[in-house]
Amino acid sequence: MGEKITVPAVRARKGGAKLTMVTAYDYPSAKIADAAGIDMILVGDSAANVVHGFDDTLAIGLDTMVLHTAAVARAETSCLVIGDMPWMSYHLSQEDTVRNAGRLIQEGGAEAVKLEGGRKRIPMIEAIIDAEIPVMGHIGLTPQSVNAMGGYKVQGRALEDARELIDDAKALAHAGVFGLVLEGVPDAVADMVTKEISVPTVGIGAGPLTDGQVLVFHDVLGLTFGRNAKFVRQYADLKQAAIDGLSRYVADVQSGRFPSEQETYHMSDEVEKMLMEGEISEPLWPLSY
Ligand code: KIV
Repeated sequence: MGEKITVPAVRARKGGAKLTMVTAYDYPSAKIADAAGIDMILVGDSAANVVHGFDDTLAIGLDTMVLHTAAVARAETSCLVIGDMPWMSYHLSQEDTVRNAGRLIQEGGAEAVKLEGGRKRIPMIEAIIDAEIPVMGHIGLTPQSVNAMGGYKVQGRALEDARELIDDAKALAHAGVFGLVLEGVPDAVADMVTKEISVPTVGIGAGPLTDGQVLVFHDVLGLTFGRNAKFVRQYADLKQAAIDGLSRYVADVQSGRFPSEQETYHMSDEVEKMLMEGEISEPLWPLSY
């Protein structure tokens, strides 16, 4: 295990070595991300899509996010673990928002939280930071706004929209976020935001000019079942590897090649002989069972 990545360590990477972030939703995926040298694990609400099979991220609630976060935290990685605040967990009141962020830390074991939205989220962000919980922002294509945006569309292509995004980024940085996810924005907007703010930007579908990149675990490793977005690069085909492995298992069971002698437990020859010859008078368990 490498040196533990902390929030100050992430901040210190601004303009330096590129940050790597990937989503993970459980113990094995967290262990794998850690072994690969990933800096930050985002326990993303994209779990709704890639793990639970929903069409959007609106369906996942805080209890489920706490469960996923705790599974990741139990992997005890050196990655910074960031718990994603699901839709409606930071929209009602500051008190409710801080309590919900606190659950991701206290019950889930996250070290920071992330939430979506620009300037209008600042009172909630400040309240969470005031409770000593580091916050990562997320602007651009914010999937929890799918209905308001009318679909998953690249944001900030028009001049006025680009200016709005840059203003949002500056305001969030001023409010104290330690990092900012830029999703689904033109590279020029990502470049300008990255140059304008003093905290690291982490892009997804935002081009190469951010301080780091984030992708969804299942997209990177080929574990999804639909069409990938343009910005996804798939580095492995674990789905095909899994299908191949399970197909060989099916064939081995059906042909009798599994389990083999080495995969089988035995009793002593003497007891086995008695068992076969019916010499055991006492039933092994109550016959009324
Ligand atoms: O939930 C998620 O996976 C995310 C990333 C796309 C940044 O928010």
